Amino acid sequence: MSVMRTKSIEQSIKETDDPEFQLKTKLTALDLTVFGIGVIIGAGIFTLTGRAAAQYAGPSIALSFVLAAICCGLAALCYAEFASTVPVSGSAYTFSYASLGELVAWIIGWDLLLELMLGASVVAQGWSQYATLFLEKIGFTVPASVAPGSHFDLPAFLLIVALTALIAIGIKESLRVNLVLVGVKLFIVLFVIVAGIGFIKTSNYTPFIPPATPGKATEGLAAPLIQVLFGLQPTTFGILGIVSGASIVFFAYIGFDVVATTAEEAKNPQRDLPIGIIASLVICTILYVATTLVITGMVKYDKIDPKAALASAFESVGKPGYATMIAAGAVAGLMTVVMTLIIGATRVTFAMSRDWLLPKGLGRTNPRTGTPVRLTLIIGTLVALIASLTPIGKLEEMVNIGTLSAFALVSLAVPVLRNRRPDLKRAFTVPFSPVLPVVAALISIYLMVNLSVETWLRFLIWMAIGFVIYFTYGIRNSRLARRGAQEEEPART
Ligand code: ALA
Repeated sequence: MSVMRTKSIEQSIKETDDPEFQLKTKLTALDLTVFGIGVIIGAGIFTLTGRAAAQYAGPSIALSFVLAAICCGLAALCYAEFASTVPVSGSAYTFSYASLGELVAWIIGWDLLLELMLGASVVAQGWSQYATLFLEKIGFTVPASVAPGSHFDLPAFLLIVALTALIAIGIKESLRVNLVLVGVKLFIVLFVIVAGIGFIKTSNYTPFIPPATPGKATEGLAAPLIQVLFGLQPTTFGILGIVSGASIVFFAYIGFDVVATTAEEAKNPQRDLPIGIIASLVICTILYVATTLVITGMVKYDKIDPKAALASAFESVGKPGYATMIAAGAVAGLMTVVMTLIIGATRVTFAMSRDWLLPKGLGRTNPRTGTPVRLTLIIGTLVALIASLTPIGKLEEMVNIGTLSAFALVSLAVPVLRNRRPDLKRAFTVPFSPVLPVVAALISIYLMVNLSVETWLRFLIWMAIGFVIYFTYGIRNSRLARRGAQEEEPART
């Protein structure tokens, strides 16, 4: 049995015609861009920005956002080429099945699940914090025993139950809700930028890159792997602080790759997917850099509230009403992120189940709704449990490492597929291949080694579980393995 077996592109596309595994094709380029923005803008800008500015980079956190955007932009080009060549549900997982072989595809799919399921859980916890804060401001108090930070985070649990039901009913319906919530979210981010400009004090930008200082917070297991590997003195701020900041705020960009998971539901995937992926990323980058410049201009970086930087910045300049409005916007905004990440996770597991790397029966679509209802319920239940029972902590770094590893592998897969299948129609191509895809992979790896040692340990455990599942189930039961066995049968008799 070969773990290097690849599935042909034609085969992948043909299998989408299987009536038991069919998704409805309804989405336009605009739908996809909205979908992308809906998942990208979320807990990253609403919560992480403040923490990363206060602890890692000061005002130069804006540069961290630019660095993370370059990494994502390069990876986005690679995703766009793949999505325009292999318009099949499952994103990076499907691309790599066609180019790097089954084992790598499984690894990427497993990484994507880490990204999407934990991402949904982390953002649901962030939502729960904002929702509790907002409810308090309007006079309701969530009992401490079920509030965020307790043993059971009830608001996060209820949010995921409601969103899972919505997703199971149908993708177009979920996108309609998404559209309204994305509108609210964009309004709030633009409001922060426009209303905040007048409160900027240029003195807050000095020093723009705070001098490197020995960082207590980054010692031991919390130290970035690169510092431990090369025996570097643990530091925060300075140039290394910008890079560490980038590996953290990278979370804020996660999601554009999820657009590629909806490939089969796009009306014209070859044209619309690259537009959706690149447009949503460009719009978000501009908004992020502007927002961070405004916030670090309004509040000195060492005074920024690491929990709710955007809302608190306005409180600190005497505008508490604005702060309440921003909290309400965050409640709406974070909801769409959780929903889209859950949709992404169901689509990746859907593709894996269609390939029989996961049990085939799980992925069947319901003929009435046109969605994989069973998988949606399973993923929803898992995410609800993780979000409500896991303590609020550093899970976002796990999301980052899962995503960055998928980026590195997808980028490297672009030149491989070009070499293997030069004949395929590519509606979009990455310029300067193979240089640009290799640079994309190297930047992703560099950001990965800037994540903490403890994140690496958790990531290795997650990967080990993935290998056990593949080598005890997938390797024997995948559609390709079964087909190979059938082909060998007559030869033996
Ligand atoms: N990019 C998403 C967020 O910031 C995951 O919440």
